[in-house]
Amino acid sequence: MRMYDIIKKKRDNGVLEYTEIKFFIDGYVDGSIPDYQAAAFLMAVFIQGMSPHETVMLTRCMRESGEQVNLSAIPGIKVDKHSTGGVGDKTSLVLAPIVAAAGIPVAKMSGRGLGHTGGTIDKLESIPGFKPELTAEEFIDSVRRIGVAIIGQTGNIAPGDKKLYALRDVTATIDNIPLIASSIMSKKLAAGADGILLDVKVGSGAFMKETKDALELARTMVHIGNSSGKRTMAVISDMSQPLGNAVGNALEVREAIDTIKGEGPEDFYGLCRELGAAMLILGEKASDWGQGRRMIDGIVTSGRAVSKFREFIKNQGGDPDVIEYPDRILPKSKEQVIVRAESHGYITSLDAEKIGIGAMLLGAGRSKKEDVIDPAVGLLMNKKIGMPVRKGQAIATLHINSRANLEQAVELIRSAVTVAEGPVHKPVLIKEIVQ
Ligand code: URA
Repeated sequence: MRMYDIIKKKRDNGVLEYTEIKFFIDGYVDGSIPDYQAAAFLMAVFIQGMSPHETVMLTRCMRESGEQVNLSAIPGIKVDKHSTGGVGDKTSLVLAPIVAAAGIPVAKMSGRGLGHTGGTIDKLESIPGFKPELTAEEFIDSVRRIGVAIIGQTGNIAPGDKKLYALRDVTATIDNIPLIASSIMSKKLAAGADGILLDVKVGSGAFMKETKDALELARTMVHIGNSSGKRTMAVISDMSQPLGNAVGNALEVREAIDTIKGEGPEDFYGLCRELGAAMLILGEKASDWGQGRRMIDGIVTSGRAVSKFREFIKNQGGDPDVIEYPDRILPKSKEQVIVRAESHGYITSLDAEKIGIGAMLLGAGRSKKEDVIDPAVGLLMNKKIGMPVRKGQAIATLHINSRANLEQAVELIRSAVTVAEGPVHKPVLIKEIVQ
């Protein structure tokens, strides 16, 4: 087999066989296929697309290119959740203890933030002492004992995707549905859960800006998951504004704790409730959405979610008193700066990507992988879409430790806000469900 022929076949809109895709992925990972041929292949896929079967095969080859986590030592149906990334998205922090309290084992690998989107591991690390590195034995043992563990991604999950993703980044081949879907699903499938819930974000802060594209991505990923023997569902959720009020690591942990206690922002809890209900259905703890939602509410109001969160934090070395005394225990910024409304009216849009980049400029996120983040900084939204506002009122409160990029961040956050005379509706939180 020659890579030249595989590129030519895809360039001419042919349908690739499993053996051809495998030849490419294995060869690219072991270095026998050079970057220039892989780049040509990616561009051919970008232009010609891939059939659903080819996409499933590409996912399988990337998944099989590295380590596959074996969770079979943990009894029960393991359900994982993945978000395609957003601003202020701290749902995993809330869902992990809630779902674990319902009896579904949560053995989760999460990532770090890059660009305008945050990562669960960075958020958890703002809790003093929290350790996201566990050995494979500690990870499995934790889930068996207390029902939940969240660790950083190991170096060896889907190396084929890792290498290709880096190449896509520099060859203008990121935004392609078969390539995105296979990239995400290769890692999720290798992570070993029995059921997968995908939270596909749509709107200004998301990869997918239009619902039709988010829907196509969701359908492609659900097809890959189900064809690979894992029950998979997707929820398309709004990311036209930050989720909840907090953006920035310790600020988001604080908001997650409030939510686990039943005191979180309405939109954020609303999403956690829907995603949680879906996870209970996938884990066969609830037979329908109504029962799932009632169970989630019950776990929160009874305090079982708080107890499980405490156990989880303590088990991974974090200070569990963060739940009772978040103000004392979480890192705090030195200074706050308020961004105020420049006119009267109603908030009609809050560009989530600009707000996410604003928070990143303050030090809450990374523009490059190597950047060091400041867990204390970020921002709290005082206003959300649909709310009335008067000139001079606070729209966002920035929590800062340095004035280095302040002016640029304030400018960006101001430009993210649109105020108009007439009222507008709040965005619909859940746009579609794909199963
Ligand atoms: N996230 C991934 O893991 N892969 C993509 O291709 C896009 C987003």
